[in-house]
Amino acid sequence: MAAVDVTTGRDIPADVQDFLDGAGVLVIDGEERAASGGATFDTVDPASEEVLASIPQATEDDVDAAVQAAKRAHLDGRWRTLPAAKKARILFKVGDAIQKQAESIAWVDMLDHGKPHKHAMGEMIAAANCFRYFAGWVDKVYGDTIPVRDGRFVYSTREPVGVCGQIIPWNFPFLMAAWKIAPALAFGNTVVLKPAEQTPLSALWLIRILKECGVPDGVANLVQGVGEVTGAALVAHPDVDKIAFTGSTEVGKMIMRSAADNLHKVTLELGGKSPNLIFPDAGDISRVAKKAAFACFYNAGEVCTAGTRLVVDRSIHDEVVEQVAKAADATKVGPGWADDTAMGPLVSDEQLQRVKGYIDIASGEGAELVAGGGQPEEYEKGFFLRPTVFDGVVTEMRIAQEEVFGPVLAIQSFDDEDEAIALANDVSFGLAAAVWTRDVGRAHRVAGAIKAGTVWVNTYGELDNPVSFGGFKQSGIGRELGPHAVEAYTQVKSVWVATS
Ligand code: NAI
Ligand code: MG
Repeated sequence: MAAVDVTTGRDIPADVQDFLDGAGVLVIDGEERAASGGATFDTVDPASEEVLASIPQATEDDVDAAVQAAKRAHLDGRWRTLPAAKKARILFKVGDAIQKQAESIAWVDMLDHGKPHKHAMGEMIAAANCFRYFAGWVDKVYGDTIPVRDGRFVYSTREPVGVCGQIIPWNFPFLMAAWKIAPALAFGNTVVLKPAEQTPLSALWLIRILKECGVPDGVANLVQGVGEVTGAALVAHPDVDKIAFTGSTEVGKMIMRSAADNLHKVTLELGGKSPNLIFPDAGDISRVAKKAAFACFYNAGEVCTAGTRLVVDRSIHDEVVEQVAKAADATKVGPGWADDTAMGPLVSDEQLQRVKGYIDIASGEGAELVAGGGQPEEYEKGFFLRPTVFDGVVTEMRIAQEEVFGPVLAIQSFDDEDEAIALANDVSFGLAAAVWTRDVGRAHRVAGAIKAGTVWVNTYGELDNPVSFGGFKQSGIGRELGPHAVEAYTQVKSVWVATS
């Protein structure tokens, strides 16, 4: 087969190219600048393997400068004390600006991460709506009056936490930045954001939008760099009041240990190994199988909520496996700019090697490969991998227990509902799950029995800003989005007044 040049047909818009040419900056106190040490790292397009931009590696001093800027901005109240209506108006404006520039920002995330442009577009709209949702919250957070005893008047207020260090992963670069910054600002905090080193670009676009829309300098700062240096310096900084992290469970644990030294407040959104349960009364099997494949292969499987364990009733097992394998084989793998691409490359060579490692592990453990298993042959460059399906997976296998973060589906079978629930819960994670059945009693029974922060019934992967999101078990601490974001980004003060 002749090798396909993945850059054929790619036509980078002029504004996106201009952005890439100037993307090598940190943003501290409203000023775009290089890192103090002068060191840089490259970010790469995982489809073409071309370097997109050279990014400054923030040192401990740069992180300190960013934290001090955020602290000054917090203490002098340049954002916190703005009238609520004005803050809300700015955040609504941010939402509109994101929507207006969505095509271009989607290009940036597509190039930096590899995802199809149409998928990135959906994320841009979700990010715009995230700012709008939290804009609506600005004037709706207040405390209580608490009756205690005669001669005492007690009330509570909800205040911002202060300086929020926010560390995000590479799977949804722009959307994760929005999920972090929108609630933090809505509730009056200031932030220092550190994007993942694999996808540093689109966060800069957001920080520029914030400035254009009227967020004062120093309120939202951007540092770039690898986790072990820049991320670790942010987590260890004594003037940070709160760390919000999304990423691996391993690093989440490290962050919690490190945060203990300063008693930083911590919210963590970590990994998953989400079960997708199909009962015999699920309805049209070929439709459900297609949805199950999409639940695992969307975003190349680089999704914390990915439905990576398909747990199927034995009576429909063979048909489901056949249909899922068919859907996997039919998934068009290619560069994000091609209209017919359903799945892009993995984010990096490191991630590709990690996922291939899991494919070898699964085969070695005796799981049966029924689709994919390797890289597509037509591309001579790029970190592409074919959607891969393993059948005959049992709980003891690592492929049933560990987060792969790639397009690899593990199929397990059950004989009855109790066994299905036991299999679903027999992992250390508890981020998400789904149940497919037309029996309304069973749907609610199983949803109630599954230990996960989100359960879908007859659908998969849906999230929306008004719905709180987070993990049970080792999938995290705290909730993002929805009304519970108030807990993550405010703290309660009780005031006692002697009236006699
Ligand atoms: P990671 O957890 O190392 O990276 C996530 C973020 O944490 C990045 O911004 C990184 O720079 C930062 N970071 C890393 N080490 C740090 C440290 N010591 N202190 C402070 N910040 C630090 O994830 P990685 O290595 O890129 O991917 C490894 C695995 O993690 C994946 O295969 C996947 O299983 C899981 N993962 C889960 C994500 C999720 O959304 N739940 C997102 C990304 C990765
Ligand atoms: Mg990159």
